[in-house]
Amino acid sequence: MAGGTFSTIKSFFGAETSGDAPKSALEMIRDGHERVQRLFEEFESSEGAERRRVVPNALRELVAHTAMEEEIFYPRLRRKVGADDPSMFDEALEEHHVAKVLIGELQNMAPGDERFDAKFKVLAEAVRHHIREEESKMLPRAEGTDLDLAQLGQEMARVKERVQRSGRARPRSERRQTARDGARASRSSSAAERRSPKKRANQPPRSGRTSKPARKRRARPVASGSRSKMRGRSRAPARSR
Ligand SMILES: [Fe+2]
Ligand SMILES: [Fe+2]
Repeated sequence: MAGGTFSTIKSFFGAETSGDAPKSALEMIRDGHERVQRLFEEFESSEGAERRRVVPNALRELVAHTAMEEEIFYPRLRRKVGADDPSMFDEALEEHHVAKVLIGELQNMAPGDERFDAKFKVLAEAVRHHIREEESKMLPRAEGTDLDLAQLGQEMARVKERVQRSGRARPRSERRQTARDGARASRSSSAAERRSPKKRANQPPRSGRTSKPARKRRARPVASGSRSKMRGRSRAPARSR
């Protein structure tokens, strides 16, 4: 494989999956922070096509990084120290949420769009703040626990690789064809449902909630005479007071 191609793959997936020694959870996190901060600096010091090239790389890195933290690192550490400081995790997740909103918007924009650069700068500021919080509060807490950080690092590397391979971390422009194919498939299945409403009725609810089947009401046997009593009551004229 040509050196250039290899280095591109290595920078896309990170050193965690390129055959280097496995990294601990904290190394995975700190390396990810360094990588995105380098990309933020590259963005700030470049222009034109070079600047445009930086954004998708930073978004990829951030999507995979937040996934490995949310799926593995945060819940495991929270189990150990969350009772002492629940707001540390809630605030970190809210910061991830804000970053994801901006990432989603950037993935749906073209680099020349109005406010594209401004949005990326706001994302960079938010992420820098988040990194400071994680490195000053969360990572030192993890060092003081009996968590198997080497094992966690391997699990996080697998999540990161899975997310990057799945395409979730790819910018919109690269996913456009896949999205178009998905929309086409969804439209054709909706049309099929409209043509066959019975089929839709048999499908489980979309919300994923398991609803109980509606109870069939049993027809009660009507006692002889009661029907005539009811009839009589309904016919009875209202008493005048
Ligand atoms: Fe992080
Ligand atoms: Fe984070």
